Amino acid sequence: MVLLFATALGCQLSLAHHAQHPEPLKDHPYYELKKDHHPQAIGKSYFGREIASVMGYSGVEWLERDSREQEEHLSKLIQTLPLKPGMVVADIGAGSGVIAQRIAPKVAPKGGVFAVDIQKKMLRRLIKKAKAAGITNIKPVLGSIRSPKLKASSVDLAIMVDVYHELSHPLEMMQSLSRALKPGGLVVLVEYRAEDPEVPIKKLHKMSLAQIKKELSTPPLGLKFVKVDQRLPRQHVVFYRKISQQSSSSPQKTTPKPAKKP
Ligand SMILES: C[S@@+](CC[C@H](N)C(=O)[O-])C[C@H]1O[C@@H](n2cnc3c(N)ncnc32)[C@H](O)[C@@H]1O
Repeated sequence: MVLLFATALGCQLSLAHHAQHPEPLKDHPYYELKKDHHPQAIGKSYFGREIASVMGYSGVEWLERDSREQEEHLSKLIQTLPLKPGMVVADIGAGSGVIAQRIAPKVAPKGGVFAVDIQKKMLRRLIKKAKAAGITNIKPVLGSIRSPKLKASSVDLAIMVDVYHELSHPLEMMQSLSRALKPGGLVVLVEYRAEDPEVPIKKLHKMSLAQIKKELSTPPLGLKFVKVDQRLPRQHVVFYRKISQQSSSSPQKTTPKPAKKP
């Protein structure tokens, strides 16, 4: 299955060239340009927050560091997620697949994980690592800066670990992701707590819960706040649900439909 996924990736690599072309930054009235910006920011703000630059491939060893479990309690993070066999999960900004690899066995054998990233090098490493670990239900997807390139109504749960704050086009990305969720589907943001000065991460790469709520409650996204889980030592785990036509009139119809394998 990994081989099949690799072929699918090969078909999508040609899209990357286009996706990574420099583009005008202020391409939506929600965004503001900042001339005098943080050196690690892209010079664009959204709801008053400076958007951080994307972590490049050189950061991959930090993502895979042995101390990550001890520092961030990744196993506890996985426990916060309502994962069941058969579910379709999207790991947006999957990097080299640290999170996708932990989710994949929980939804196997019939479910799977779409591992979306905009960096081909990250996806190549993810494929290699999944293969070495014998995991066959992770499908790499080359997304663009505006869209995860997933089919409409195809995903039960989407997760972004340390990713949202570095989306160059958060509005377009989240609109597209919302379309990819099934009715009642969940989106989970995991971000370092800006409220806590003890969290040893630069301010630009942290988010407060108030800021997350401000941004994610934007009506065009069609998302509704569900809860925040604070059991992790460094990060907020924030849950949103897709608001569907059915959910406003009849809440019981929002139960996710049986999942299909990616
Ligand atoms: C800090 S890394 C986190 C990787 C992974 N989630 C983890 O925790 O190990 C952020 C990742 O998000 C990706 N990314 C940034 N913007 C993206 C976008 N618009 N769509 C998909 N991935 C994106 C980057 O390429 C990078 O691999």
